[in-house]
Amino acid sequence: MEYRKLGRTGLKVSPLCMGTMQFGWSVGQEETQRILSATVDSGINFIDTADIYSKWVDGNPGGVSETYIGNWLKGSHIPRDQIVIATKVRGEMGKGPNDQGLSRVHIMQAVENSLRRLQTDYIDLYQAHWTDDDTPIEETLRAFDDLVKQGKVRYVGASNYATWELMQALWTSDKNNLARFDSLQPHYNLIERDEFERELRAVCKAYEIGVIPYSPLAGGFLTGKYRKNTPLPESKRAEGRKRSMTDKNMLLIDGMEVIALRHQAAISQVAIAWMLVDPVITSPIIGATSIAQLNENLGALNIHLAEDEIASLNKLTEWKKEEDD
Ligand SMILES: NC(=O)c1ccc[n+]([C@@H]2O[C@H](COP(=O)([O-])OP(=O)(O)OC[C@H]3O[C@@H](n4cnc5c(N)ncnc54)[C@H](OP(=O)(O)O)[C@@H]3O)[C@@H](O)[C@H]2O)c1
Repeated sequence: MEYRKLGRTGLKVSPLCMGTMQFGWSVGQEETQRILSATVDSGINFIDTADIYSKWVDGNPGGVSETYIGNWLKGSHIPRDQIVIATKVRGEMGKGPNDQGLSRVHIMQAVENSLRRLQTDYIDLYQAHWTDDDTPIEETLRAFDDLVKQGKVRYVGASNYATWELMQALWTSDKNNLARFDSLQPHYNLIERDEFERELRAVCKAYEIGVIPYSPLAGGFLTGKYRKNTPLPESKRAEGRKRSMTDKNMLLIDGMEVIALRHQAAISQVAIAWMLVDPVITSPIIGATSIAQLNENLGALNIHLAEDEIASLNKLTEWKKEEDD
């Protein structure tokens, strides 16, 4: 596998990152262990999690995904330094007023909890899951900078930041000589292009920020398993995917199917391959719920879309309005 630099840093990551939001939600501990081992065997060295995964499941206190990863890593013979672990802070981890957010007090507490659950003494990439309007960005970045200096965190990144918020953070780091966001985790895929492409992409390119998009398959929709007049697939996410089944998106699936057949590939592989064409993208975060899905996702690395195929996918998913040009 060819590894890529995460933005301007020297950190090398695989061209796909294994997301772990599904672990403790749609996938139990044993299957998680098998999927993670197969992930590393495939050459993927990059794992993304968050402290809140998957707190939305009844009876789940949050931190379950990190706990599963920690247990798997401890039980495996994989040296810690062969894996790049990314996790996140921001979400509500308790009922107290300081049990969420990006304040110094919460970050300092949350990092200790993540380290304990992950059973490691450092986090490779610590990300702000989303912004916190109650905390000045300088306070957040100073706390992150201290964690880098303490060796508890290697790099810091952001997720779900608007362009001006990302620029403000970069400027604050620069002005105060603090660790800066070296990665961005945006919501980005063929049916959700505008949020990233409108302005964030240009910032990431100009400032050499590693881009690790989440939901490259739109939660499973871009696999072709959601069709009109067909029962929904068995998935915890199926109900939520109904909103993606617009006429425009169903035409896209038809177009993707034609391209997939030409490459003897799966529709999901076309979705991931499309994203990998862009040199600004470092490593899409996949969310496989089985080894079969993982293998299919990995197959995307061998699909090389022709220019006319990329153009046709871009046309089918065009989002720019005339006045944007
Ligand atoms: N920063 C954030 O705010 C944020 C938000 C969301 C996600 N994330 C990160 O991004 C990761 C990936 O997100 P995601 O799960 O939404 O990614 P995704 O790749 O868009 O969707 C993954 C889902 O699609 C289905 N799937 C995957 N491969 C398939 C295949 N080959 N054939 C059929 N179905 C397939 C699976 O669901 P079923 O098997 O249930 O159908 C799987 O859980 C998460 O684990 C998390 O680490 C971050």
